[in-house]
Order: sequence, then structure tokens, then C-alpha cells
Amino acid sequence: MEFKKSQELYNKGLVNLVGAVNSPVRAFASVGGNPLFIKKAKGSKITDVDGNSYIDLVLSYGPMILGHRHKKVQKAITKALKNGYSFGASTKNEIKLAKIVCDAFPGMDKVRFVNSGTEAVLSGIRLARAYTGKDKIIKFAGCYHGHQDALLVAAGSGLATLSLPGSKGVPEGAVKNTLIANYNDLESVKAHFEAHDDIAGVILEPVAGNMGVVTPQNNFLKELKVYLQSKGALLIVDEVMTGFRSKFGGAQELFDVEADITCLGKVIGGGFPVGAYGARNEIMEMVAPLGGMYQAGTLSGNPIAMAAGISTLTELKKQNPYEKFNEIAQIIEVFLLESAKKYGVEITVNRFGSMINPFFTNKEVTNFEDAQTSDTKKYATFFWEMTKNGVFLPPSQFEAWFLSSALTEKDIQKITNAIDKSMEAVSKM
Ligand SMILES: Cc1ncc(COP(=O)(O)O)c(C=O)c1O
Repeated sequence: MEFKKSQELYNKGLVNLVGAVNSPVRAFASVGGNPLFIKKAKGSKITDVDGNSYIDLVLSYGPMILGHRHKKVQKAITKALKNGYSFGASTKNEIKLAKIVCDAFPGMDKVRFVNSGTEAVLSGIRLARAYTGKDKIIKFAGCYHGHQDALLVAAGSGLATLSLPGSKGVPEGAVKNTLIANYNDLESVKAHFEAHDDIAGVILEPVAGNMGVVTPQNNFLKELKVYLQSKGALLIVDEVMTGFRSKFGGAQELFDVEADITCLGKVIGGGFPVGAYGARNEIMEMVAPLGGMYQAGTLSGNPIAMAAGISTLTELKKQNPYEKFNEIAQIIEVFLLESAKKYGVEITVNRFGSMINPFFTNKEVTNFEDAQTSDTKKYATFFWEMTKNGVFLPPSQFEAWFLSSALTEKDIQKITNAIDKSMEAVSKM
């Protein structure tokens, strides 16, 4: 397999782009080598500029749940394009997508569309503060909520618990109201409430996907919600990754927990830049123009993005692929575990619906600290062997692999064959 053209573009890209990428997760810093440049994608496959074709388990980090260029989505986008690209005024399709989203999440009477998951979360946090009149927010180590200052706190390390900025350029003042708790550990949340009386709410990924896949244990989400209610604080559920992916109504539907504020992104835009935050009426009525919390966006509710979102969600509801996702994820899990055993490689596999990934560790992974015991060098070897065997994986141990409903039995066979070869390569390190 050749990567010559990707290599050339990478070198060219370095001149005027930062690291030749527009998002650091696309760089290959933790697996070595240079990022692949993509030419096109269709269905379950993605093709790079050298003509190599892969089964895509990245799916643009989640949005492409139907696979690439689904016929109905493409038709809807093409139709919308004929009417214009952006108006700075309302359109019928914004109302239509809002209804689909609010119907899927019982805790949402109203929704506001924005342009990314980051925007959805930063607005959701502002709303929680506006509604409660309190400033502090608890987040969990290892959960990622976009690149807003207040939540870019080093996750999982000792520094994290001290709320030191995790990125240069984030002033300490911006994170002074951010408190860090441990995922799956309600006691660590309670400790913060005992120490502070100005906590507006807790934000979390209901199933974490940004430290690899980590699921809520026992009744963590339900108990958290009950506890927060007793404290008059809000539960802000970041379903940017899990919304419409783990179930049509998100992880909240699966775990039977209702958020006070829900943040969405990725799948609702069907590959276009859409984020959203929503809540029950009394909370959303704080948002301008109804209330005093200001939040705005020139391109918010963009007509092309709305068309992509509506057609993606409509098709997704019709396909209802969630059972199929579970079955495929289970097949992949069994294969990972069996081939790891066969070659004497220690792994733990976590999965939830259409999100799955192996951790190269012998520990059970229930939080960021556990995830960090993984051998990232082994993941790098595994990653490159999978690439060479035609499977496109995220270039990081700490990202979920995503499944699309476009996967065929042949694709699954190819994935399992690649797993076997890649695990063998790891065993020879
Ligand atoms: C859970 C979660 N929240 C927020 C974000 C930020 O979304 P975006 O990259 O669209 O700004 C991400 C991105 O991966 C995410 O996974």
C-alpha cells in the first residue's frame, strides 16, 4: 500500500496549515507517520488520494451514521442548494428539524441550533448558569466537551483536580469555576457539593467516547440525576456523540434518564456543521429573544445543514439500525478478544451501541485513569496494520470506533480478518 500522494499533500499542507490539519485529532501524532488525505467516500468506504480504499470506522468522528453520501441525504441537499445557501432569516426546515429533535428527547420542549458541538456545550453551560444564577460547573476527568476555555481542563491527571488549564492560552480565571470529578464516582461529585454552594450543574458524556468508550456503571446516571435534583443543580447531558447514535433518543432513552439541558451535534447535521442545545420551556425561555441569556449565530440553522439533518434523521428513524449495531459491535468485540487471546495480547474491549474500541491494557476501564493504563505503542502498531489491511481507524487509542448502517457482511468479514492480522503484529512487538 502506497501513501505517496498523501505524503506530498502533507508536506504542501504544512506550509499554510497548522500541522497540515484543521483539527488536531486528524494528525497522527500518537500513531506516527503522516495523516492520510481523503479524496472521496461512499457508503461504508472511504478512499484516500492514493486510491487506497478502507472500511470507514471513523465516520467523520461520528456524524456519518448512515455511511457516506446516502442517496436520500444527497437528494435533500441538492434540492436545498437550488434555493440558496444562507438567508439570515428563518426557514420552514428549522421548524421541521426542531420538531424531530424535540420529539426524540422528552426533556426538550425547545431547541436552539448552532454550528458545532463546542458551541452547543458552551451555550448549554451559559444557560445552566443563567437559569440557576450560580457559576460553578462540575465536569468529569476524561470527558471532552469541545474546545471552550471553561471546559478545557486537563483531564485525568493530578493537575485536573486542581483545575489548572489544560491548554496554553486558557487563563486560570476561565477555569476557576470548573470542578473536576471522577467518572462513575458519585462520591467525587458529592465532595464538590459539600465544599461549594454555588454549583450550577454537572456536565457529562452519558457514555464517554473521548477517553475511548467508557460506559456508566450501575445506576450512575440515575443516581447522579436524583442527587442533583436534591441540590437544585442541573444535569447537562452532552449527547454530541451519543445523540441519535446509541438510540434515536440518545443515551438518555437507553438509561431512562432525562437531562435538564441536552447538547447535540454530529449526527443531527448528517455531516454538515450543526449543533444544538435544548431543554424544557422554563429553561429555554431564558434564551434571547425570549430571555436575557444572549447567544447568536450568523449561519445557525443553515438551510443546507438543516436539509442534511432532516433527511439523515428521517432515514435513521426508518432504518432503526440500533439492534443491528449491537450485533455488529458484539461480533467485533468477540473477534478482538479471541484474536488477542490467540496471540497472547492483553486487551479490554468496551462498547456501547455503535461505539466500540479495544484498550491495550489488562485493566477494566471505567474511567480516564484506567484508560490511561493502555499501551499506546501497541495501539499504534495495531492502527497501522488495520490501515494496511483496509480499515480506517481513529489515529488515537482514546477515540471510539464508530459503526455505520452501511456496513455489509463482507465489510465485517474484512474487519475481522484485519483484526486477526493486526493483533498478530502487536504480539510480535
Ligand atoms: C462529547 C462531545 N462534546 C462536544 C464535542 C465538540 O464538538 P465539535 O467538535 O463539533 O465542536 C465533541 C467532539 O468530538 C464531543 O465528542
